[in-house]
Amino acid sequence: MTFNSREIILGVGGGISAYKSAELLRRLQDKGFNVTVVPTQASLNFVGVATWQALSGREVPTNLWNNTHEVAHISMARQASAIIIAPTTFDLIGKIANGIANDLLTNIVAASTAQLILVPAMHTEMWLNQANQENVEKLRARGVIVIEPEFGKMTGEDVGIGRYPEVSGLIESISTHLNFEFDLKGKSILITAGGTREAIDPVRFIGNRSSGKQGYAIAKRAYERGADVTLISANVELASIPGIEIIKVESATDLYEVMKRKFSKADILLMAAAVADARPAELSDLKIKKGSLNAITLVENEDILASISQTKSDKQVVVAFAAETMDDLEAEGKRKLFAKGADLIYVNNVSNGAIFGSRLTSGLILDRHGLHKAINDLPKDTLADELLNLALNKLG
Ligand code: CTP
Repeated sequence: MTFNSREIILGVGGGISAYKSAELLRRLQDKGFNVTVVPTQASLNFVGVATWQALSGREVPTNLWNNTHEVAHISMARQASAIIIAPTTFDLIGKIANGIANDLLTNIVAASTAQLILVPAMHTEMWLNQANQENVEKLRARGVIVIEPEFGKMTGEDVGIGRYPEVSGLIESISTHLNFEFDLKGKSILITAGGTREAIDPVRFIGNRSSGKQGYAIAKRAYERGADVTLISANVELASIPGIEIIKVESATDLYEVMKRKFSKADILLMAAAVADARPAELSDLKIKKGSLNAITLVENEDILASISQTKSDKQVVVAFAAETMDDLEAEGKRKLFAKGADLIYVNNVSNGAIFGSRLTSGLILDRHGLHKAINDLPKDTLADELLNLALNKLG
């Protein structure tokens, strides 16, 4: 399953209280969720597509039969970590409880294994109707969360149970049920990943073995934990991550230029890219013939991290990375941490070709006081969380 904890679907059923979901949408966004609104055809009688587009800032799919080749209901069902339907009508409760899928929203529900939260709102008689009550029982028994409607004034003169709950209380109960903590919300996190390439001629380059997996794992976890993430990506063969701004670069010089623009706005920098220490002194416009390829003169590249760190404020945290094959990882890590002006460093142990391209990582986490933790065969996304926790902690 490829859930993204920040992605949720807000289904809107055809009830007069559909307008209240505009406020719910806003509050969900405030919490850090990215919301795709899927209104039923009936609901468009109350609130139109334009409102949902403007508020969500996204496309608003309304029809199962648009762009069928994209099989939107399946991809949306796979991405979303939760589906909230508010208001949920008598009709929607009946369909979902009995496994009926005849429009886009009910097909998404049918295809999804994400947490489903229903917010019923209807006239008291309909809410208390025996079929409806049995359907609600059935849904709850399956693990669907059905929020109790509130008592109060209905459309017209009637008073009774069936009202759409107050949004402030509703959002609290949704948050409790979903249990996602966006502890990096409001934090701007800059991450570099991959390995730079230094061109020799139009065909050849000097490169390195970095796969970019560690940097991408950090970017994904930071995003899932609510951060605004910018990823500077150098020559990787990895899929992009929805929701994350990715800036592609090739050489160390390109990377440095982007870093100069982006660093000042970042709260945390994680410099996972493997930057080439040198580049060919001259870039040949033409492919160099083999007879002339016996030596390449190199010039040193800027030490990007060391230079950028000199502009670092007290409110910024910098995490360096190193890949070492030497015996004393700790001493070398410590030396680099200070040389690069970093607050933390993760020293990968890459002896015997380990780690590059792998899902697991081993190494040492050091801070300015020394060794913080030794890491042994940990998944790269678990390490990502560890480093983000430490950086957040240093940020205070
Ligand atoms: N780094 C950088 N600019 C460079 C080289 C490295 O910003 N020109 C950054 C890397 O992104 C990493 C850290 O510095 O976060 C350590 O990289 P590493 O290659 O281990 O350090 P070097 O200073 O290049 O040392 P070595 O002599 O071991 O290559």
